[in-house]
Amino acid sequence: MKGIILAGGAGTRLYPASLSISKILLPIYDKPMIYYPICTLMLAGIKDIMIITNSRDKNNFIDVLGDGSQFGLNFQYAIQHEPRGIVDAFLIAEDFINGDSSCLVLGDNIFHGMHFIHLLKRAASRITGATIFGYNVSDPQRFGVVEFDQNYKVISIEEKPQNPKSDYAITGLYFYDSHVCEYAKTVKPSARGELEITDLNKIYLERNELNVEILGRGFAWLDTGTFDSMLQASNFVQSMELNTGVKIACLEEVAYKYGFLTAEQIEANISKFKSNSYYEYIKKVIRKRRSKLIDSNL
Ligand code: G1P
Repeated sequence: MKGIILAGGAGTRLYPASLSISKILLPIYDKPMIYYPICTLMLAGIKDIMIITNSRDKNNFIDVLGDGSQFGLNFQYAIQHEPRGIVDAFLIAEDFINGDSSCLVLGDNIFHGMHFIHLLKRAASRITGATIFGYNVSDPQRFGVVEFDQNYKVISIEEKPQNPKSDYAITGLYFYDSHVCEYAKTVKPSARGELEITDLNKIYLERNELNVEILGRGFAWLDTGTFDSMLQASNFVQSMELNTGVKIACLEEVAYKYGFLTAEQIEANISKFKSNSYYEYIKKVIRKRRSKLIDSNL
């Protein structure tokens, strides 16, 4: 399965904060925003990831993330020249996907909560069809909205409806089978001139192949599209990390625990950085595991 992160767009809503740099590289507390969607893909077990940026920001992304090997991942970069909508990602990434199944996550979507790995694994294991993720919100008009029955069978999906049929927003995380590029080519621009992801998902719905997973009570799906929501997201991450002592989206930790990299590789990678609370955390995670291993060997 291939992963795609859509990190294009001019980010004009966050000017002047994002005048000289993509908003997706701006920090959410202690790490760049893009670490969070990368983490989502890693938790789904995905290592091959295409990052789609605008032409101005591509080199900045490469400076921050490189070829992905520091996290045990393989990154490729592609440019979206104009903001033509989310479905455009599948036209850009067709060769990269190469007939495989894929998972798309929007660069500014942050997910955190219990059992997320389980939901991701279930979505990734479906050979046919598509999976979207629904989340209860107070303002569903702002999003794609999914309506479903008691058995979680999808009844309808609508993009930014004036009269939403449910309170469940469709989050910016999508799993597709190997037909996605073929279907993406048939999507026509909407009234706002974009290739809407909801139109692609409707193709799967019409084929009776659209699944929905619900991100339930206590789960956090954070929007980072405004000054306030960015600060709120930072405050959320800070509060969770300080309270629990466990970091959210520490990519080195995930790489280590998922066996993408060894402790020695991570130690070598981070040795070039001046120590701070982020890198100290990674060292602590490695130390803890090592001592447990020694303990269990005793
Ligand atoms: C897009 C999608 C929408 C989805 C949202 C999630 O909206 O079109 O269906 O609910 O992402 O972040 P946009 O960001 O284009 O307004």
